[in-house]
Amino acid sequence: YGTQSVNELGHLTIGGVDTIDLAHMYGTPLNVYDVALFRERAAAFKETFKNVGVRAQVAYASKAFSSIAIYEVAEQQGLSLDVVSGGELFTAVSAGFPRERIHFHGNNKSFSELQYAFDEKIGCIVIDNFSEITMVKDIAETRKEKMNVLIRVTPGVEAHTHDYITTGQEDSKFGFDLKNGQTDEAFLQLHDHPYLELLGMHCHIGSQIFESDAFCFAAEVLMKKMVAWRDDHDFVCTVLNLGGGFGIRYTEEDEPLHPSAYVEEMAKVVLSMTRSHNYPVPEIWVEPGRSLVGDAGTTLYTAGSTKEVPDVRKYIAVDGGMSDNIRPALYGAKYTAATANRIEEPHVDKVTLAGKCCESGDKLIEEAFLADPTEGDIIAVFCTGAYGYSMASNYNRLPKPAIVFCENGEHQLVVRRETYEDVVRLDIPLQSVKREET
Ligand code: LLP
Repeated sequence: YGTQSVNELGHLTIGGVDTIDLAHMYGTPLNVYDVALFRERAAAFKETFKNVGVRAQVAYASKAFSSIAIYEVAEQQGLSLDVVSGGELFTAVSAGFPRERIHFHGNNKSFSELQYAFDEKIGCIVIDNFSEITMVKDIAETRKEKMNVLIRVTPGVEAHTHDYITTGQEDSKFGFDLKNGQTDEAFLQLHDHPYLELLGMHCHIGSQIFESDAFCFAAEVLMKKMVAWRDDHDFVCTVLNLGGGFGIRYTEEDEPLHPSAYVEEMAKVVLSMTRSHNYPVPEIWVEPGRSLVGDAGTTLYTAGSTKEVPDVRKYIAVDGGMSDNIRPALYGAKYTAATANRIEEPHVDKVTLAGKCCESGDKLIEEAFLADPTEGDIIAVFCTGAYGYSMASNYNRLPKPAIVFCENGEHQLVVRRETYEDVVRLDIPLQSVKREET
């Protein structure tokens, strides 16, 4: 992937940096990001919109991996930012991210999170439900401050990796249902508000999607509703946000499209609908998370103990696991790995790559093919850049890994490794509580 290569020592390199050096310098588990690959992916999305001649915003869905440094790179690439909590917003503010390019998502934003969004004068709040409408109106009217909003809808299309289904009855905790009048009711409550500027609609149909049909269907459904609002209420939407979910290749079985293919296809639908209904072409916004950071991230582990279950399998355990990557345990997600210190040797030894957490299910890869793995090897697990660190925990009180960015032969620590002191930082020892004498 990206700038991954092999050097004269037979070591895996990322961004021109020897991963074995990285492992020694920063310790393991270590998350290594190929920054050039992130930039390339971001540029591909932006370039495609330019080529099809549609104005667009590409917002990095930062739940996939949120840190100050990645927000700085996103800013450099001219991306917008999708945040889903006060914590992600605070991270963006700490990174000095341009507020007008921040979009705020979430199905249960609190009053104080919404106030924070107003304080920071962010670009847009994606309104999810009726309680949020009440709160946002309250804040805007009290402060007499403007805010851009989008209405999030459930379009009745559910995308799976290889296909999609249209569901008659939506059942999602997110957004307003399109078919039972909720979306129209939300529109009526918002479209002529003195302080709230309704830009348009948003939908997100799923994640790790491999084909463009579902996006095209969603675009069509939302465009139809926009046309209806124009015809019935003389209201024109200027933004159509089609969310994220573009798939990536974790293993050879995965066959995603190139980002440009998804974007081209959805833009075609929007352009043809606008032509046939004589509707002004809206800006198209997308929110890729995984497809920007997923394959840019690699986790380096040190191999430790092994165990042979005769005639069944060989386990090799690494110094991390479900605490830094819960996706295999939670979703049965599949990954590939390699022996980074002997990357050119044949990877023919079938092993189960186990984590170190006290839980049988903590297996990172059921069937990994490695080069005769032995204790002390550095094992690279690929494509861990999305929803790895961001979903990490301190299970078993394991400190969270460090994160290093590599680019053009240089490396920089961007998140330091947690220490044991960090692990107990929030603990409060028992106060001298009077115990009843017995
Ligand atoms: N926009 C919205 C409104 C979303 O809810 C999401 C993801 C995205 C964009 C970005 O989707 P992406 O491009 O990254 O697929 N933890 C799961 C994935 C959860 C996705 C949640 N929403 C995983 O590890 O697979």
